[in-house]
Amino acid sequence: MRAVRFTRYGGPEVLDVAEVPSPAPAAGEVLVAVVAAATNPGEIGIREGRYAAMWPAHFPEGQGNDFAGYVVETGEATSGFQVGDEVIGFAPRRAQAEYVALGAQRLAPKPAGLPWEVAATVAGAGATAWASVAAVDPQAGETIVVSAAAGGVGIYAAQLARLRGADVIGTCGAANFERLAALGIRPVHYGPDLARRLRDLAPGGIDGFIDTFGGGNVATAIDLGVLPQRINTLIDHEAVRRFGVHSEAQEQADTPEVWSALAALIARGEISVPIADVYRFTTDHVRQAYHDVGTRRVTGKRVLRIAPSPEPVAPLGDPVQHEVPQGPGAV
Ligand SMILES: NC(=O)c1ccc[n+]([C@@H]2O[C@H](COP(=O)([O-])OP(=O)(O)OC[C@H]3O[C@@H](n4cnc5c(N)ncnc54)[C@H](OP(=O)(O)O)[C@@H]3O)[C@@H](O)[C@H]2O)c1
Repeated sequence: MRAVRFTRYGGPEVLDVAEVPSPAPAAGEVLVAVVAAATNPGEIGIREGRYAAMWPAHFPEGQGNDFAGYVVETGEATSGFQVGDEVIGFAPRRAQAEYVALGAQRLAPKPAGLPWEVAATVAGAGATAWASVAAVDPQAGETIVVSAAAGGVGIYAAQLARLRGADVIGTCGAANFERLAALGIRPVHYGPDLARRLRDLAPGGIDGFIDTFGGGNVATAIDLGVLPQRINTLIDHEAVRRFGVHSEAQEQADTPEVWSALAALIARGEISVPIADVYRFTTDHVRQAYHDVGTRRVTGKRVLRIAPSPEPVAPLGDPVQHEVPQGPGAV
């Protein structure tokens, strides 16, 4: 099968879509043909070696975590899923591949009609947002700030907080103002003087702060009087030590139950997940995808299209021709 591999730390140029052996499902596992796999900025840190002390690569290393696909084989004594079932899952560092084998308990059913690209983001950005929102626990009528609210995690978190009845203010760049406003989120520019702008927008005070970007957001929240137990950051570990704020993330919502709940919200139209770009599963396109992820400018998620659906992927030596990716960052 084809899968993303890199054999040294470096920039997007170390990424290759390589031919590798296909996995086989062990007892209790299923083999999934991956249709779409998400990209995430954390994967850049791993690939560049910035997280090597905590999460070293084991070369040749794979990439990708959250995906959507369909079951093509079941191992012995596997229950819960059958061949043909459409699924959502999380396969650390190996989801960007034509096939993944993993325990059936690590999958949730994909609601029929949920687009593959959107489904691929649920177990990563979606679950991370779920944990962030649970930590801050927005209540109806409260004012909650979400930083980088148009980003992959932010777009989920802002809408989840909104669904709880909170008044949600989302920081973003100019390009995302209208998009956030259309989702019922009050947009505000990130950057210098953010605290002043937030005071103006929320004269009655801010009750909770979900930081998905770092860069001093937690200190700003503390300055604005938000209690540490009502602040969550995904990235500012220094602020966690200094202020005792939460740092709940994907690991704290890493269950098929959470994925199903999120998928149902999207399928019912209660959460919208914009897909900024879709990339074909070739070396050039994967490198371009991670170049684009590294810009940290996006509306929603960038996703790799691994295979068409629902047909099985083509045999080796017969590369699949995928749709040309959409959007400004695509090649
Ligand atoms: N620990 C975990 O389990 C876990 C899981 C997922 C993510 N994370 C981490 O969480 C963070 C967010 O991930 P993500 O996928 O949401 O990232 P992302 O999609 O790359 O976020 C991009 C967003 O950041 C915004 N942004 C750019 N510069 C900014 C600034 N100076 N201040 C505020 N916002 C700015 C951009 O806004 P505009 O486009 O509007 O300009 C863009 O929409 C990352 O650090 C990631 O590594 C951790």
